Amino acid sequence: MISNFNHCRSDKGRENENSCELSFFNIRTSPVSGNNFVLQDISGEVKPGEILAVMGSTGCGKTSLLSALSGRLRLQSGSIRLNGEQLCKRLRRSKIGYVLQHDVFFADLTLKQTLVYTALLRLPDKKYTVKEKLEKVDKIIATLELGACQNNVIGDGYRKRGLSGGEKKRLSIATEIMDDPSVLLIDQSAGVLKPDLVHAPRPKGGVGTH
Ligand SMILES: Nc1ncnc2c1ncn2[C@@H]1O[C@H](COP(=O)(O)OP(=O)(O)OP(=O)(O)O)[C@@H](O)[C@H]1O
Ligand SMILES: [Mg+2]
Repeated sequence: MISNFNHCRSDKGRENENSCELSFFNIRTSPVSGNNFVLQDISGEVKPGEILAVMGSTGCGKTSLLSALSGRLRLQSGSIRLNGEQLCKRLRRSKIGYVLQHDVFFADLTLKQTLVYTALLRLPDKKYTVKEKLEKVDKIIATLELGACQNNVIGDGYRKRGLSGGEKKRLSIATEIMDDPSVLLIDQSAGVLKPDLVHAPRPKGGVGTH
């Protein structure tokens, strides 16, 4: 159950114009069976620049919490706010990045090709030229220290060998920070990000599970 969660907090980040405060009050999701709620009356907050780590045993509800915070899991009660404003579709899309526990990529593309397609598709033409989009890809690759494997194929981890698990996780993070979310939710971030990297790219706050 979710009450097994442990929170641990870091406030070493810096605020910037993109900063956002995420707060959630008495979150409860629909029961998955009988009266078994995965999330029951969970509250918390992440201030600008903070990192909130959510730790707990397998099946305790970490992924469920992040799904709820990302707006993907319907709440039965409770509320989620960004800078005091109720989370809605618009805020969810523009402010929150969500790195899933299990990565989904095209196995035959290289890491860099994946990021280039993401940039071309996701970054608005009104704000970025193609050249700026490509520059942004290079910057993110450098920030997340992915240069050495940028031309490696992703692979499927089964028949087609490719990126390591940690490199794939960083690639997921790279795709999610592409459009500068204010809050980044990372499911199973343990061992992937060094503390200095967590604060290097935007966003300047987020929630990660271990
Ligand atoms: N739609 C569903 N129907 C039935 N059970 C569900 C459903 N969604 C989640 N659960 C159950 O809710 C519990 C919490 O799942 P969740 O994926 O949030 O755990 P977790 O803490 O992320 O685990 P892990 O550390 O293994 O990733 C699990 O027992 C899971 O089986
Ligand atoms: Mg999980």
